Amino acid sequence: MADRRPSAASLRARKGTAFPVITAYDAALAACAEAAGIDVLLVGDSLGMVVLGFPATVSVELNDMCRHTAAVVRGTRRAHVIADLPFGTYEASDAEAVRASVELVKAGAGSVKLEGGVRAASRVAAIVAAGIPVVGHIGVLPQTAGLEAGFRRKADREALLADAHALEHAGAFAVVLEMVDAALAADITAAVTMPTIGIGSGGACDAQVLVMHDMLGLYAEAPPFAKRYVDLAATATAALREYAGEVRDRTFPPRS
Ligand code: KIV
Repeated sequence: MADRRPSAASLRARKGTAFPVITAYDAALAACAEAAGIDVLLVGDSLGMVVLGFPATVSVELNDMCRHTAAVVRGTRRAHVIADLPFGTYEASDAEAVRASVELVKAGAGSVKLEGGVRAASRVAAIVAAGIPVVGHIGVLPQTAGLEAGFRRKADREALLADAHALEHAGAFAVVLEMVDAALAADITAAVTMPTIGIGSGGACDAQVLVMHDMLGLYAEAPPFAKRYVDLAATATAALREYAGEVRDRTFPPRS
């Protein structure tokens, strides 16, 4: 792993290589990810569910994202930190999208991510024109999924290819494909020159991203495609139970 944070341009140049991306929300776990050799961290607005306890991402505010982005940046030295623009900060105008992106960059983000394809293209172009690298996000769009079809796998070939091309044209340096039909995700990956970052979209994407709390077993409602590598909730509960028992029976702290 390089000794400095990779730039958006260097991540774009990873097209065709498989690289891991993981979400992070705090300094301690971000440091673990970096120690594991993961150099692309996403401060996702999944923050709302897996850390803040909301039922959906729409409750996340820009202040929340700035606070957690800054924590992830403080916990790392060699990772590129992407921060999500939360719902409500970029829908109204290009100018608002730029303003919110500037706040995330001031908090330490190396780039920002926003949801939407063709409809988000002018926002992407405006943010890029302000000098801020952008990651797109198409397929299932969690911020608005509850208002339309829900979390159903996407397979609309024409629409998704048009979305990917629109984002690339607008200047995005990478694009997240969330719950896109695997064969279509492979075609999109072949059709664009920026890396695709898959989540629940099969193995042909350039990169993969998972929500850290899903893969560590810290979030009970993880989607079925999210592989759980460890059950940290069970490990933490057992440790806390042991601590509580030792306090109750006075074996901790030891009497000198
Ligand atoms: O908020 C998030 O964690 C995300 C990932 C699902 C890509 O956007």
